[in-house]
Amino acid sequence: MDRYEIVGGQRLEGEIRIQGAKNSVLPILAATVLVGGRCTIHNCPALSDTALTVQILRTLGCRASGEQGSIVVDTTNLSSQELSEALTGKMRSSIVFLGPLLARCGQVKIAYPGGCRLGPRPIDLHLQGLRQMGAIVQERQQDLLCCAPQKLQGTRITLSFPSVGATENLMMAAVFAKGKTTLCQVAREPEIVDLAAFLNRCGAKIRGAGSSVIEIEGVTRLQGCEHTVMGDRIAAATYLAAAAITGGQAAVRGVDPHDLLTMLTLLQKSGSRICREKDWIFLKSDGRIQAFPPVETAPYPGFPTDGLPIFLSLAATAQGNSRFVENIFENRYSSIPGLQKMGALIRREGRVALVEGSKQLHGAKVCAEDLRGGAGLVLAALAAQGFSQVEGIQWIERGYEHFSRNLAAMGAKIRRR
Ligand code: UD1
Repeated sequence: MDRYEIVGGQRLEGEIRIQGAKNSVLPILAATVLVGGRCTIHNCPALSDTALTVQILRTLGCRASGEQGSIVVDTTNLSSQELSEALTGKMRSSIVFLGPLLARCGQVKIAYPGGCRLGPRPIDLHLQGLRQMGAIVQERQQDLLCCAPQKLQGTRITLSFPSVGATENLMMAAVFAKGKTTLCQVAREPEIVDLAAFLNRCGAKIRGAGSSVIEIEGVTRLQGCEHTVMGDRIAAATYLAAAAITGGQAAVRGVDPHDLLTMLTLLQKSGSRICREKDWIFLKSDGRIQAFPPVETAPYPGFPTDGLPIFLSLAATAQGNSRFVENIFENRYSSIPGLQKMGALIRREGRVALVEGSKQLHGAKVCAEDLRGGAGLVLAALAAQGFSQVEGIQWIERGYEHFSRNLAAMGAKIRRR
């Protein structure tokens, strides 16, 4: 089994060019289905999820090829509207093909994506919105059959929770709908702004992405374009946190500091010095991490749920006690047993985790259970005294391009075996 071997206690220092955002590239690649032509997507991160999305496009009859971060997709000859369990089972976010396939083909058959390591992942908000636009949705035992015998109809849809995936699916479904669609109480994540920018560049008429109301004026066709995927805000926060937890310094390039403001503020409050420019952030730490003010996850612009495990590891080494509340996913605390094995004092009560800081962590053999929890364990191992082994790294590498190589370039003693 692949693993990282880490000797902790090294001060990390260096500059990282941040990868394209995983949560942006997946919906943008899915959105190329709407185009019926050729698109070039730059800054695609080299991740297994990107490769799987390309595989899905090919299964649908599209052409997709790529090198050095740029993927060329030609969706002219799209010939299938079916996604099998073999594909959706590997990547839950493949549900993001639902909206664009329905809009382009008028029907879709898609196997349920199922749950994931973070707990059940319902899609009721996606389906409710599509039904309001006139789609007929049959929730069968094995799969979902969705069709729109008439063209989808623009309407006003209010989400009961600002789901990222539902916002993306409905925004894409509405691109070819008849008339105007108004989506209310939608997610405001930067990745949604990126998706809307891509679609508008192709000729869609979307306004308001990034606010809680998005308006889409239906159009009859799109044309291909070139688009550069935004920088990954969670990866940027992870590398900055790696510098902070080891008392080092790091610069990250290719990411907009505004996209990770809540995380930067927290790093600053815990004692790190931060400078930022348009697409560049610098952090310097003297190794003394202060306890955090209470952290509570919330939809953007609140503190991101994906950032929680990263800050949990920092809190374990901080001076004083910190309190975390997770409001988005049930199983976000997968790293706690591993951190405890390294000597962290963390008590979990449901959604709440109480961390007693001031602990010098020690190396241990631990296992990543999911992407961000795994990254949190690597950070803890970098700060710990002695040797750690982190297994389950296939989870980590779903979201971080060249993770061990980048950390090693910053001076970490890390080996991928
Ligand atoms: C996306 C991100 C993920 C991030 C999450 C929240 C991608 C590929 N993944 O996931 O990294 O952690 O946003 O920022 O972009 N919900 C429902 N019904 C629905 C849809 C969602 O109840 O129909 C609930 C979910 O169970 C969850 C919450 O809403 O508790 C948030 O889910 P959502 O915002 O949809 O997250 P994803 O799009 O799956």
